[in-house]
Amino acid sequence: MGSYRIAVLPGDGIGNEVTRGAIEILKTIETRFGHQFAFEFGLIGGAAIDQKGTPLPDETLAICRESDAVLLGAVGGPKWDRNPAHLRPEKGLLQIRKEMNLFANLRPVKFYDSLTDSSPLKKEVIQGVDLLIVRELTGGLYFGKPSGRIVENGEEKAVDTLLYKKEEIQRIVKTAFELARKRKKKVTSVDKANVLESSRMWREITEEIAQDFPDVTLEHMLVDNAAMQLIRSPQQFDVIVTENMFGDILSDEASMLTGSLGMLPSASLSASGPSLYEPVHGSAPDIAGQNKANPIAAILSAAMMLRLSFGLAKEADAVEKAVQQVLAAGLRTADIAQKGHRAVSTEEMVNEIKAVI
Ligand code: NAI
Ligand code: MG
Repeated sequence: MGSYRIAVLPGDGIGNEVTRGAIEILKTIETRFGHQFAFEFGLIGGAAIDQKGTPLPDETLAICRESDAVLLGAVGGPKWDRNPAHLRPEKGLLQIRKEMNLFANLRPVKFYDSLTDSSPLKKEVIQGVDLLIVRELTGGLYFGKPSGRIVENGEEKAVDTLLYKKEEIQRIVKTAFELARKRKKKVTSVDKANVLESSRMWREITEEIAQDFPDVTLEHMLVDNAAMQLIRSPQQFDVIVTENMFGDILSDEASMLTGSLGMLPSASLSASGPSLYEPVHGSAPDIAGQNKANPIAAILSAAMMLRLSFGLAKEADAVEKAVQQVLAAGLRTADIAQKGHRAVSTEEMVNEIKAVI
């Protein structure tokens, strides 16, 4: 039995609807397993711009810092698309990642038997896929200096720098090995070591870390090959660890293995404080406010929170099993409905999942 403080930042659009669903599920877990969850709400994104004049108000950050974990919905929408850069909802998201030192982005991609037809890939290819992408989130090409435009001898140039400190590589690779140890015990480290010096250092450090995990198999794969292998035979992967930009691209690619964006959860682990959990999808303005959004990505994000931030594995299992059970029973929101299914609402989906926990 434990007591935990959860900061909740619903954000915009369907962020509100799916976060409400995830909270319902957490409350069910609270009752069934005898825990205490205290929910503290904060503003982020467009909602925060409208009410506080900034996408990430200080009080939101304070609520997050005092929490044991953060649950986020999604931010953004056409209403704010013409705002200047510092008043854009997405700015709030980038800022919170930086402020909270969220260095490891975890995106599990899992195949659900009952959703075979939702993926554009053949059943034989995606059957049994259960992989986890561990993307470095605070270094690499997106943050390295120098970065910008230069004019030299009348010639226009642009530069970005792929820079990593040894410690940054160590902590992300170590995280990947620790996660693999609890899974199928295989780490695929993805780099471009045939060309990039930063990748050669990445490889060396990965080899060093691997010494501490003799029970986990390590393989190296070049990123171009990894992009191909993810489509050719994704079953071969367990944990994939890679630098920021490679991870950005590969995780979007891998998300299509399961079909719907509405199914994919994520966790962003902090190096120094509480971690953050959010669905991979955005605020979906096209379906917002219609009680149509698939709440499963948000619910599975809450399950990741239970497992990774609170160490509540049994409780996380219960949520994941309940999701599997309702899918197997044929329950579908519109995004995953196939012929022969009646599409259920967000609320109906949440209630059915609650009922089988
Ligand atoms: P999106 O993920 O919001 O929507 C893409 C498509 O998938 C839409 O057709 C939407 O209806 C559908 N979809 C997404 N989640 C769904 C769910 N749970 N259930 C059913 N259908 C779902 O991406 P889009 O349209 O490119 O962006 C919309 C807004 O969201 C933009 O302002 C964008 O900046 C923001 N965004 C925010 C993110 C975040 O907060 N982490 C991530 C991605 C986009
Ligand atoms: Mg991306």
